[in-house]
Amino acid sequence: MNYYITTPIYYPNSSPHIGTAYTTILADAIARLRRLNGDNVHFLTGTDENSQKIVRMAEAAGVDPQAYVDRVVESFRKLWQCLEITNDDFIRTTESRHHKVVQELFARLQAQGDIYKGEYQGWYCTPCETFWPENKLVNGCCPNEDCRREVTWLTEESYFFRLSRYQERLLRHIEENPDFIHPVSRRNEMIRFIEGGLDDLSISRSSIRWGIKVPGDPEHVIYVWMDALVNYISALGYPDGPLYAAYWPADVHVMAKDIVRFHTVIWPILLMAAGIPLPKKVVAHGWYLDREGSKISKSRGNVQDSFGLIQCYGSDAVRYYLLKEMPFGQDGTYGEEALVERINSDLANDLGNFVSRTLAMVEKYCGGVVPVPHSDGEAQRELQALAAEAADTLEEKLMAGDGAGAVEALWRLVGWANRYVDTSAPWVLARDPEKRTELETTLYTFVECVRILGLLAAPLMPGVPVKLQKLLDVQGDGRNFFGAWENAKKWRLVPPGTRVRKGEPLFPRIDLDQLLAEREARDEAEEYIEPIKPEIDIEDFAKLDLRVVKILAAEKVPKTDKLIKLTVKLGAEERVVVSGIAQHYKPEDLVGRSVVLVANLKPAKLRGIVSQGMVLAASHEGSLEVLSLDHPMPPGAGVK
Ligand code: ME8
Repeated sequence: MNYYITTPIYYPNSSPHIGTAYTTILADAIARLRRLNGDNVHFLTGTDENSQKIVRMAEAAGVDPQAYVDRVVESFRKLWQCLEITNDDFIRTTESRHHKVVQELFARLQAQGDIYKGEYQGWYCTPCETFWPENKLVNGCCPNEDCRREVTWLTEESYFFRLSRYQERLLRHIEENPDFIHPVSRRNEMIRFIEGGLDDLSISRSSIRWGIKVPGDPEHVIYVWMDALVNYISALGYPDGPLYAAYWPADVHVMAKDIVRFHTVIWPILLMAAGIPLPKKVVAHGWYLDREGSKISKSRGNVQDSFGLIQCYGSDAVRYYLLKEMPFGQDGTYGEEALVERINSDLANDLGNFVSRTLAMVEKYCGGVVPVPHSDGEAQRELQALAAEAADTLEEKLMAGDGAGAVEALWRLVGWANRYVDTSAPWVLARDPEKRTELETTLYTFVECVRILGLLAAPLMPGVPVKLQKLLDVQGDGRNFFGAWENAKKWRLVPPGTRVRKGEPLFPRIDLDQLLAEREARDEAEEYIEPIKPEIDIEDFAKLDLRVVKILAAEKVPKTDKLIKLTVKLGAEERVVVSGIAQHYKPEDLVGRSVVLVANLKPAKLRGIVSQGMVLAASHEGSLEVLSLDHPMPPGAGVK
């Protein structure tokens, strides 16, 4: 069967983080599971590049937007590689294959009257790239709970998409297809939202240049969401590409709750209007939060260095932890200490120990050769039943987008395996020659269990079967011990006589104290710099008015050892500025210098003197240097 799965296309406004990684890992686990089930999978991810955020970031970085996205997109590709993501395609919305489809669809919907030209007046949230009606604003700000930033009033000529025309049809579709939106809480939320009434959507902007131009009206750029959603079909070569014929409609779009509205309102209506079948399912998970309860996001500046994490703990451990810690339908909390705890308790202790005990016992009691099992007993029947149940539950949970449920299903089997080692006590059996057949059957059962666990772990932690394969296939005759998903329900697939070895632990334990101490030592060795503050928008920066000023006079402020009173020239104006630089400069050395002043800082009184601005200085570990110009500029010149 063909199976098409997608992640959102992420904004490449900065490197990917564990939030974006989570969605991609979840989608990858589903894609891998489908492949193990014999499906022909097409797995798509990519980047959403035609947004205003990108323009602002590029401006701040002093490069053109295309050069900016080219650089950031590479870090996405690299992270997905490090996490062993098996996407079949990576779409970038700056590619011509995408532009072509967006423009073609736009023209078609316009020709049939679903897109019309009008005038837009309303509140626009630039960070969210969303127009909001007045009654949805919260205290006059963006109602998106993750944003709550200022909105801007816009009046401009705009193209509109007739969402209202399709409201009833969409509701009917959602009601008739209970599987369309998962989980059910999101489905109910969307039904309420649509019942509240859909306004026609402004889908073009005439005040910006970056993006896809409206066909026949190049003064207008198409709204970024209208453009982005189309990636799911443009990547397949809509309308006549073979991939489109094979894979559309998508089996599932995976994402977090923040963008469900776009995928279950705008996207299906766009498809309905264009006469294209709707995707079968939209699955929404929660957010990863930091320990303070804030969403992990680029704009909050609380993102983890995902590359560093993988380097330190390995891709399987990061995948395991992220899948496990996001309860289905809720938010998850990320913390590095918790990650280390999970590695030690679940991966090293539970799974890793079972594998190493099994292989060590086969080495010790059977010379490293898998013994011939004798007749099955209660334990063998129990294992077969549990393995089949684990495979079914894991599959059911993962297909519903419940990564934590899938991990739990696997761990039930890991728990059983460890208990079985304790209750069967092979070290006792080994002492009694009459129990030899029981010992052999028991050890064979352990090895079968290792095989089944390796297979069930494959979608979640793809490195596990790869490592196990090396331990089981010591002779290197290339036999695949895992194979298809259905093998989890089969019994006695490991051939007796197979040579095994204990090898390295699957997941070495991590000494957190030692790790932190090493990290501290490293940080100290490297030059310490203050942490970079959270990102700001270019608009925030533009609020600062920095000017060149010339120091006309300088004197120490009486009764302090820190402050100097400066008289500076700013254009025709003279200002007094009090500066905390007396321990670093003699007043007479400052006179005549051209320095940089924050000219629009609210005046403040210091030691009874009103200071009208602030002189910029660099400081590091007790030293201080006033920023001054090598070659004088006229006082009042702007600094940008
Ligand atoms: O919304 N926890 O891009 P985006 C879990 N370009 N998942 C998270 C997360 C977190 N803290 N932070 C981000 C966009 N995500 C649009 C999408 S699709 C046609 C266009 C994941 O870079 C999650 O999947 O803001 C979320 O939906 C997505 O990244 C938003 O990525």
